[in-house]
Amino acid sequence: MSDKKQFTSPRKLDHLRICAEEAVESGDAGFGSIRFVHNALPECDRGAIDLSARFLDHTFPSPLFISAMTGGHEETKEVNARLARAAERYGTGMGVGSQRAALENDKLEDTFSIVRDEAPHAFLVANLGAVQLRDHGIEWAERAVSMIEADALAIHLNFLQEAIQPEGDHNAIGCFAAIESLCREFSTPVIVKETGCGISAATSRQCWGAGVSAIDIGGWGGTSWAAVESIRARKSNNAGARNLTALGQDFSCWGIPTVVSLAEVLATGGPVIASGGVRSGMDIAKALALGADLCGMALPLLRPAMESDEALCSTIDALHEQLMVTMFLTGSVRVADLRKVPLYITGMTRQMIDKDNPARTRR
Ligand SMILES: Cc1cc2nc3c(=O)[nH]c(=O)nc-3n(C[C@H](O)[C@H](O)[C@H](O)COP(=O)(O)O)c2cc1C
Repeated sequence: MSDKKQFTSPRKLDHLRICAEEAVESGDAGFGSIRFVHNALPECDRGAIDLSARFLDHTFPSPLFISAMTGGHEETKEVNARLARAAERYGTGMGVGSQRAALENDKLEDTFSIVRDEAPHAFLVANLGAVQLRDHGIEWAERAVSMIEADALAIHLNFLQEAIQPEGDHNAIGCFAAIESLCREFSTPVIVKETGCGISAATSRQCWGAGVSAIDIGGWGGTSWAAVESIRARKSNNAGARNLTALGQDFSCWGIPTVVSLAEVLATGGPVIASGGVRSGMDIAKALALGADLCGMALPLLRPAMESDEALCSTIDALHEQLMVTMFLTGSVRVADLRKVPLYITGMTRQMIDKDNPARTRR
């Protein structure tokens, strides 16, 4: 077993604790630059509002998606169990964190498979890094899916994090080819997912071309893995930690803001999960209005999930309440109606999503 392998599981716990306890968010996802046009005569019954959403041939009672976070260490099992109980209760989709630790050490499998035990009916998404896919091929993809009886597999892209991790993989060559061959050979839908830097129009075109079933944009403006790894380096006493702490801080500004990434990816195709800095039901409504199919949240659900089932459910109830009020005040009975609602888009977000911006049209 290489050093990298030995450290996957403890690293998972470090990440969870750092995200729960420290300031790990950076940037502006762009939701503050969007305002709905208030409809003073909405002609809509709040009691009739329908939050259901379609994604990959499934109908979900809510457009909220519980983004990939955890598993891979004994102490993460209860957090995954709580997230899964919420997914089962609300009928939301849910992703698990990278399954690498359990693929390396099958004693950790139950920290992931608990989600299927607790959520027998939920749409569950397995998770594997693009580097692990390249290095271990379809065999790991199949094991990840069967471990949780997943409905889809997310291949995560996290090269900013890899660049700042002392044990990170700094060679990205061959990852796209691995995604292409997975899409050719695999019967389970493949979702390509960033983890906080967003996906551009050019990358999304490549992904659709490879045959991916959906894209989760994981844009900038929420949890920053540059910040997480910078804090992790500061807390360690390893040689070189000072440099990595500084490098992480320098790159916490790196990435495509979520709203901009959403506009870029939607211009190339779909379906799309909007995630990265989605922080309220109103943000969910804004992402849906721009065209997202589902909206993923990680950090805002992590802290209540570490506390109790009740704390997690009251967070989700509050999000649904905010989404419903936003729909009511825009006269939107269904999610599809939100897409017709006029929006004000201001400032840098507006400049960046302008259709003449070269980033949207140039490969
Ligand atoms: C504690 C924690 C662990 C995460 N682990 C993973 C992971 O293993 N795989 C992955 O694809 N994304 C992972 N993510 C990224 C999230 O799925 C999401 O893309 C990102 O945090 C942006 O969403 P947010 O701003 O709502 O947190 C993790 C996020 C958090 C907070």
